[in-house]
Amino acid sequence: MNSEDKKLSAENTVTSRRQFLKAAGGAAAVSALTVADVSAVHAAGNDMIQVALVGCGGRGGGAAINALATKSGPIKLVAMADAFPDRLKSSYDNLLPAVGKQLDVPEERRFIGFDAYRKAMDCLKPGDIVILTTPPAFRWVHFTYAIEKKLNVFMEKPVTVDGPTSKRMLKLGEDASAKNLKVGVGLMSRHARPLQELHERIRNGELGEILLMRGYRMHGPAGYFDSPPKPAGISDVDYQIRRFHSFLWASGGNFSDFYIHIIDHLCWMKNAWPVKAQALGGRHYRQLADGSTSVDQNLDTYSVEYTFADGTKFLFDGRCMNGATGIYSSYVHGTKGIAVASRANDCGGPSAIYKGQNVADANVVWQSTDTSNPYQNEWDELVDAVRNNKPYNEVKRGVEASLVTSMGRMAAHTGVEISYEDILNCPHEFAPGLDKLTKDSPSPLPPDAKGRYPVPQPGIVTTREY
Ligand SMILES: NC(=O)c1ccc[n+]([C@@H]2O[C@H](COP(=O)([O-])OP(=O)(O)OC[C@H]3O[C@@H](n4cnc5c(N)ncnc54)[C@H](O)[C@@H]3O)[C@@H](O)[C@H]2O)c1
Repeated sequence: MNSEDKKLSAENTVTSRRQFLKAAGGAAAVSALTVADVSAVHAAGNDMIQVALVGCGGRGGGAAINALATKSGPIKLVAMADAFPDRLKSSYDNLLPAVGKQLDVPEERRFIGFDAYRKAMDCLKPGDIVILTTPPAFRWVHFTYAIEKKLNVFMEKPVTVDGPTSKRMLKLGEDASAKNLKVGVGLMSRHARPLQELHERIRNGELGEILLMRGYRMHGPAGYFDSPPKPAGISDVDYQIRRFHSFLWASGGNFSDFYIHIIDHLCWMKNAWPVKAQALGGRHYRQLADGSTSVDQNLDTYSVEYTFADGTKFLFDGRCMNGATGIYSSYVHGTKGIAVASRANDCGGPSAIYKGQNVADANVVWQSTDTSNPYQNEWDELVDAVRNNKPYNEVKRGVEASLVTSMGRMAAHTGVEISYEDILNCPHEFAPGLDKLTKDSPSPLPPDAKGRYPVPQPGIVTTREY
């Protein structure tokens, strides 16, 4: 638990859910409750937490398994929703052997389409939990309905991809707190024990003053980084949602989707968000193995210089390119030494502090030993907050992490310096009206006559990203 979280727990004077039910005499007392009490009596007076999954892809299935693996009381998955039937079916088929009887989702509680999220959430009672793991473009739409239904929420990162939806999500986060709802955001680095311990040690001065931070995520093309031209027989909107890393409106591109974790946890080590960014990027290789030209909107390389209010720099390099050196780790340089934050991947331990500026065994001052799973930790903590009515809302920092990530991306895509205020107040909403999207709607990103989508043009288009 970091110091901020400890403070929140210490300040928590509200009655636990279990105590409340005992004192209130169970269901009879439920009708007298105010809105603020709602999560203290979820599931209408019994201990069973019901969960619905909206967005049944890779992470959605993983999050559901983490939810059902929490040990603090009975919990089951009761509804699933996805835009596409094949995705829901494969998720259901994968979950069944993994979670057994905790999967209680008969055919009539499996919902398909762009309004499926409503039907799945309608299966829950106030105080239950909905998992939002679609591409981020839909986060504000689904979160709005979850708040209306008084549901606790776990939502994956990024939570926004542009300025207008960030402002909307900040407001929704406040609305959720006003209803005493608990909201977890899937920036699991914040729940990684090695990084929590490193953060405490940096706060205690073990690294001295932070002078520079460096983060890298460089590997070959991953996920839907690139995409062949849309085949016949599928709409633009379906194609772009299925291959969401290729399209900025759906995901913020590979920059937002892939790089947010390292950007988030290094800013956490500094306990601040950067105030501006300048960046470079290039679109080098767009021919796919089948000879077609990729129609994605991403750059192959990104190099961002973030600046904090005190002038400290944070350099981030991202690359999706085969054959080039792979680096996927993060570092903090201080006046007393260097720290490895993530040794491999988004938040892989052990984290460590070294004297001097060389990462060498002989220089180790401290090295973490905890190997617990941060994806499980974040769920254990969310469900504990739900069951024991502890304050828990990660939306503000989730939005801020998403915005700072978008700030670096926009700096690369425009070729001009972008401040935090610039990205927050940028009026370009990539996909307006997503709450009204149907399967027959036109895509927010229409193709040109040759089936190509607009790509960033740094130095030419400088006030928006495409
Ligand atoms: N924290 C992490 O380490 C981590 C890891 C992977 C993914 N993620 C995040 O999880 C989210 C999903 O990523 P994924 O890899 O699981 O993608 P995915 O494509 O495997 O899953 C997304 C699912 O959402 C469905 N979907 C899309 N739009 C929908 C809508 N409007 N309504 C209902 N269903 C819809 C898709 O059909 C698909 O099944 C992304 O935001 C991603 O960044 C986080």
